[in-house]
Amino acid sequence: MRWKEQLLTLTPYQPGKSIESVKKQYNLEHIVKLASNENPFGCSKQALAALQSNPAGLAIYPDGYATNLRETLSAFLQVEEEELIFGNGSDNLIQIISRALLHPDANTIMAAPTFSQYKHNAVIEGAICKEVPLVNGDHDLDAMLAAIDEKTNIIWLCSPNNPTGTYIPENKLVAFLEKVPADILVVLDEAYYEYVIAEDYYNSIDLTRGFANLIVLRTFSKIYGLAALRIGYGVANRSIIKALEPAREPFNVNSLGQLAASAAIEDKEFINNCKEKNRQGLEQFYQFCTKNGLEYYPSQTNFILIDCKMDGNKVFQGLMEKGYIVRSGNALGFPSAVRITVGSLEQNEGVLRALGEFLAQN
Ligand SMILES: Cc1ncc(COP(=O)(O)O)c(C=O)c1O
Repeated sequence: MRWKEQLLTLTPYQPGKSIESVKKQYNLEHIVKLASNENPFGCSKQALAALQSNPAGLAIYPDGYATNLRETLSAFLQVEEEELIFGNGSDNLIQIISRALLHPDANTIMAAPTFSQYKHNAVIEGAICKEVPLVNGDHDLDAMLAAIDEKTNIIWLCSPNNPTGTYIPENKLVAFLEKVPADILVVLDEAYYEYVIAEDYYNSIDLTRGFANLIVLRTFSKIYGLAALRIGYGVANRSIIKALEPAREPFNVNSLGQLAASAAIEDKEFINNCKEKNRQGLEQFYQFCTKNGLEYYPSQTNFILIDCKMDGNKVFQGLMEKGYIVRSGNALGFPSAVRITVGSLEQNEGVLRALGEFLAQN
């Protein structure tokens, strides 16, 4: 078969280890998974209740326009319904955008390290990736501007960035957007937006009004705790949404996800509570790092990247043997670090105790 040549260079996404497989392998009773930046507190009870109600039933295709969710979200965000696009997770939106704009004669600019799916999809489309190294964990926006040429079709910004957890300050973002040519799409991936506590964080939805080439991506997989149901959305000027829509499969957002996401938006108390517990959890990590002389990036997300000054794979392995699944920084572009999702108070205490023991022994 004549596969696209670039596919042969790619490996499938490596998911974090499953709890069951680790239990079996290390003969452990209790495992805590802090590897995929999921919400340790689950999801809103209102979302769970909505799932029971699925009025249309499973034999019926989902609403391809996501009418109810679209109405709820447009009221919540104060945007027009035509300014929204939905995806089977924001992963799917990254794929749709890449499909719509990238090809072998185009290039795309992104930070490095950043979320892996921008590059993955660009490679599948045969586009050239211009990866611009982070500086101290931050996007180097000047270097990203300098990388633009007449074949640049998309620039990816991840704020807060995965895996560093750092964000782009408003003045820098606006100055950057002012300089990007209007025919290049800027994708601002805000998967962790709801966790942000920085007071000078920008209002990205407002920015889409001033910059007609900006699309903001968000997700119900993180603070909303609905990762299994796969719902992401994009907000942009209606002409961008109109251009992207034909690249979206008609029934990409499932019925249960639509129901749960609509209900989840209404439960502001759950979100505020998770945000506050996450803030407290991050403090636990900061204190541990300070006490143990470990460097980290202050995080605006529900994860933290800690430099353990040794092979991240070894730390990953050591923690796994103690019942904690985290993410080795090796695969994320930080070979001496681990990325740990902020869990509940007890989970954080546990993983930090395990990390302390491991570091003392090694
Ligand atoms: C920065 C970023 N963007 C997008 C995603 C994809 O999220 P989902 O497809 O679950 O909406 C993730 C998931 O970890 C992420 O970290």
